[in-house]
Amino acid sequence: MSTERTFSIIKPNAVQKNVMGEIITRFESRGLRVSAARFTRLTREKAEGFYIEHKDRPFFQSLVHYMTSGPVLLMCLEGENAVALNREIMGATDPAKAAAGTIRKDFADNIEANAVHGSDSAKSAERELAYFFDKAELQKRF
Ligand code: CMP
Repeated sequence: MSTERTFSIIKPNAVQKNVMGEIITRFESRGLRVSAARFTRLTREKAEGFYIEHKDRPFFQSLVHYMTSGPVLLMCLEGENAVALNREIMGATDPAKAAAGTIRKDFADNIEANAVHGSDSAKSAERELAYFFDKAELQKRF
């Protein structure tokens, strides 16, 4: 195992449910540490750029609309095996397939409004973190 960083978004539907604290507690209680955070509302351009790999998928426009529909909490999480651990804590993309006790099982409304985003690899994490955060905003908490 190695200490690494991953990127996380608490999405508009979870912010609306007022469960940001509960979601962060799930990360912290499993050993992940918040090392950067910004509460903001994404512009259409920023959301489109973030999800550019999905631009040809039928759900792309709807996804961008949803992600800009309200504020989000952008975070860097760090810890042992952070990428895989975050994905385990989040659960499957589709809440209907997410395991009991996962964030998406408990807080997602559907496959689109699925409460949280998490990087799918260490490489994606570095790209996504750089897309939203300046180097100086990333605190070392190792
Ligand atoms: P996320 O982990 O942020 O990565 C891409 C997002 O696209 C995903 O979570 C969902 O919000 C959304 N998404 C993925 N698959 C679908 C789908 N089949 N229909 C609608 N939205 C989807």
